Amino acid sequence: MEFNLPLVLDNEMTFTSYSPANRSDKVGEAASASSSDIVEAFRRAKIAQADWAKVPAPARGRVIANVGRLVEKNKEALSKLVTREMGKVYREALGEVQEVIDTCDFFLGEGRRLYGQTVPSEMPKKNLFTFRNPVGSVFVITAGNFPAAVPSWYIVPALLAGNSVVWKPSEFTPVVAKALTSLFHAGGIPQDLLITVVAEGGETFAALEEGLKEGLINKVGFTGSTEVGRRIGAKTGEYVQSACLELGGKNPMVVMPDANLDLALEGALFAGFGTAGQRCTSLGTLWLHQSIHDQFLARYSKLVEEAKVGDPFQDVLYGPMISEKYLDNHLRHLAMIKGDHKISGSSGTGRITAENPRAGFVGDPSQGIYAHPTIVSGIKSDDELYYTETFGPLVTVGSFKDLDQAIELSNGHGYGLSSAIYTTNPDSVWRFREGISAGMVSINNSTSGAEAHLPFGGNGKSGNGSRQSGIWVLDQFTRWQSMNWDWSNKLQKAQMDVIEIDHNPDFTL
Ligand code: UN1
Repeated sequence: MEFNLPLVLDNEMTFTSYSPANRSDKVGEAASASSSDIVEAFRRAKIAQADWAKVPAPARGRVIANVGRLVEKNKEALSKLVTREMGKVYREALGEVQEVIDTCDFFLGEGRRLYGQTVPSEMPKKNLFTFRNPVGSVFVITAGNFPAAVPSWYIVPALLAGNSVVWKPSEFTPVVAKALTSLFHAGGIPQDLLITVVAEGGETFAALEEGLKEGLINKVGFTGSTEVGRRIGAKTGEYVQSACLELGGKNPMVVMPDANLDLALEGALFAGFGTAGQRCTSLGTLWLHQSIHDQFLARYSKLVEEAKVGDPFQDVLYGPMISEKYLDNHLRHLAMIKGDHKISGSSGTGRITAENPRAGFVGDPSQGIYAHPTIVSGIKSDDELYYTETFGPLVTVGSFKDLDQAIELSNGHGYGLSSAIYTTNPDSVWRFREGISAGMVSINNSTSGAEAHLPFGGNGKSGNGSRQSGIWVLDQFTRWQSMNWDWSNKLQKAQMDVIEIDHNPDFTL
C-alpha cells in the first residue's frame, strides 16, 4: 500500500502487515521512511501550517466535521480493518472508531469557541486580552493498540487549533493509519498538513532530533512505553519543549467488602482481559479485601477459565496479541512469576497452540498469535510483577487489610494512569479519590473505557502531567498569547501608575 509521502525513499524496506488473528492474511504493505524522509515531511508540513493557521477556526471546525461524518460513513469498514490488522474484537473496534467520531464531534464545535478572555486592566482606558495561538508543527507518535482512536486524540485537536501534523503510527498497524489518513484528506485536510510516515524506532528518533534542531517541530505527542517516553521527554526538554506523553500504567482495582461483587467481577474481567490486556488502562493488580479474597478469586478464576478466547470476529472476550513482539513481552512477564504465586484462569500459560490448548478456543489457534489468560495471585509489593506493567492477558491479584493499605499498594509502584474502586460506601469513594495518585479514577467501573471528552492522562511513570481529550488537550496544541491595548494616549506604567482608593484601616465598630 502506498503512503502519502511522494518522496524517493532512500531504502528499499517495506513493512508488511499480517493479521495477528491469521498470519496468512496479508493486510497490506507500507514503505519504510528513513529519518531524512521524515525530516522532509516535517519541512513540507511546516510550510502547509502557515496557510492553515490563516483559515478561520470555524472553517477549520467544518473540515473536522467533514472528517467525522466520513469516519461515521466508513465506520464498519474501518472497524473491520482495525480488527483484522490489530486483532481487537470487532465490538471493541466499533467502539474505537466511535471514539474517533466523538472526538471530531467535540472539536468541530471548538472551532467556534477556541475562547480567549477579556481581562480587566489595573489602569483606565486600557484593555487586556488572551488568545490561543497554534503551536506550529506537531510530531505525533502512537502505538498499535489503539490504531485509530488514540491518534485522533492528537490529530483532531492539533489540526483544529491550526497546526500541522506529521504522524508516525505503529509499524504493526500501517494500513489502519493509511485508511484514517485518507479519511482526513477526503474531509478537506490538505495533503501536506497531515503526513503519515511509517518508520522504525531508530529512524524516528533520529528524525525527531533533527526536526527539533532545525526548528521544524514545535510539539511532540507520544503514546507508548514509559521507557521510550522518558527518552522523548528528555530530548524535547533539550530544546525547551515539553512533549505530551501518554505512557504506561499498572492500574489498580480495589474491591471493598461492601462492594457489589457481581459488578466487580464483570469489571475485572473486562478491565483485565479486554483487548487481551493491551490497553494502557488495562487492569494491572486486583486488590481484594482479605475478607472476600478467597471467594472473589475463586469466582474470578472460574469466569476467566470459562471465557471465550479466539477469532476476534466471533463473540469472544479477546482475540490475538498485536504481534509476536507483544507475545514475547507477555512471555517475559510470565517468567516473573515466583514459586509462592498461584496461577489460575486457563488450562495453560503462554501461547495457545494445539499442544498447549485452551478449552473452548474459538477458531484455530495455530493461525494467529494467541495467549492464555493468566491470573497470578499472592502478589506482594516487593515482587517484580507488582511494579512492572505487563500489557497482556495477565492480571496480578493481592489482598489488603484496610483502605489505607489498599491506597498505599495502589500507588507504591510509581505509575499513576487509571484506577478503580468497587464499594457502596461514599466514605471509601472519597478517601480513595483523594489518596490515589492516578490521573483517572473509576468508581464501580472498569479501569479502561474512558470517555472521549474527559481529561485523559497520568502522573509519575505514566506521564508528565499532560492531558489529552476534551478542552484540556487544547493546552497542548495552543500557546496563550496575552495582549494589552492602551488607548489613554499616555504612557501608563503597570504597578506604578495605579489608582489608589482612600480607606480607613483603623476603623472598628
Ligand atoms: C490506550 O490504551 O492508550 O480508556 C488508550 C480506554 C480507551 C483508551 C485507551 N478509551 O481504555
